Amino acid sequence: MSAKILEVDHLSLHYLTRFGEKINAVTDVSFSMKQGEILGIAGESGCGKSTLVSGLMGMCIPPLYPTSGDVRVNGESLMNRTVEDIRANVLAQKISMIPQGAFNALNPVRKVKDIAADVIAAHQKSGSSVSPKEIYERLCERFDLFGMDTKRVLNSFPNQLTAGERQRSVIGISTLLNPQMVIADEPTSALDVSTQKEVIRMIFDLLDKGIFSTMIFITHELPLLYHVADNIAIMYAGEFVEMGSAEQVVKDPRHPYTKALMNAMLSTEQSQRTRKPEAIEGAPPSLKQTIVGCRFAERCKVACPDCKKNTQLIRMVGDRLVRCDYAK
Ligand SMILES: Nc1ncnc2c1ncn2[C@@H]1O[C@H](COP(=O)(O)OP(=O)(O)O)[C@@H](O)[C@H]1O
Ligand SMILES: [Mg+2]
Repeated sequence: MSAKILEVDHLSLHYLTRFGEKINAVTDVSFSMKQGEILGIAGESGCGKSTLVSGLMGMCIPPLYPTSGDVRVNGESLMNRTVEDIRANVLAQKISMIPQGAFNALNPVRKVKDIAADVIAAHQKSGSSVSPKEIYERLCERFDLFGMDTKRVLNSFPNQLTAGERQRSVIGISTLLNPQMVIADEPTSALDVSTQKEVIRMIFDLLDKGIFSTMIFITHELPLLYHVADNIAIMYAGEFVEMGSAEQVVKDPRHPYTKALMNAMLSTEQSQRTRKPEAIEGAPPSLKQTIVGCRFAERCKVACPDCKKNTQLIRMVGDRLVRCDYAK
């Protein structure tokens, strides 16, 4: 059995706003990942996916704070470590993130090659520095590998590139040090369909070429995850509500929220429009208060009065995890 790269134990995270409000953005999330595994995480906007990513990378920067729980990478805890230590010793080398918006990730007044040099310099362990020339050579090699117009892209400012070139540059830079694991947080949102395909192809090219082998892929598109992920976790109002193999979660969902999420989407197989997507009525609960009972109860079509009273614990149902007392 291969060793665990990532272990997450009962992780809870909160924001403290300047108005003194506490927002419990992630609650009691536990899972682990082995080398070579692809985990998909899906859920509506605001359910805590990006906050969870910050926690997984040890980047709890105010107003975000760890509430409880632990995150370990290769057996080493990331909690109680300084952001500087994590930047220098963990990020880009062990875990790297492909962010949601490439434009925001690229400094508009620096050329792509200089941005790359800055990023790599920020993530070097003391005593193991790679020279700017070497960084440039590595970048050329990597961008060539993916069929990019390397010299032009590296010598351009971000606004001189297409959206696809920008996102692919971000992916090239963030994986330059061959991280063990990559977290892609909605890497294709805000891109048109053909650019989305280009970006997905590049990510899976990197996997095929062995540049990294373990990945968390976050999207609200469950049908896409079905094709790319080994396992899928569904997040709702800060909690994991279901986790299992991609096949189980997509083809045979057990949590009422997973079922509703599937009904709200058209899978690619349903492109012939045999079914209309069904919106999930209502909105997720505010994460500012302590929530009593099941977090989905207000919107759940099969909820009973007890669901609004009893906190739901995640438990095994067959060989997947579900946070619903009534799931069989
Ligand atoms: N900087 C912040 N300060 C306060 N609350 C935040 C901040 N960032 C996110 N939140 C809140 O945390 C919750 C989870 O947000 P987020 O992790 O971005 O969700 P997702 O990525 O699933 O869309 C939301 O209620 C959001 O409003
Ligand atoms: Mg997000």
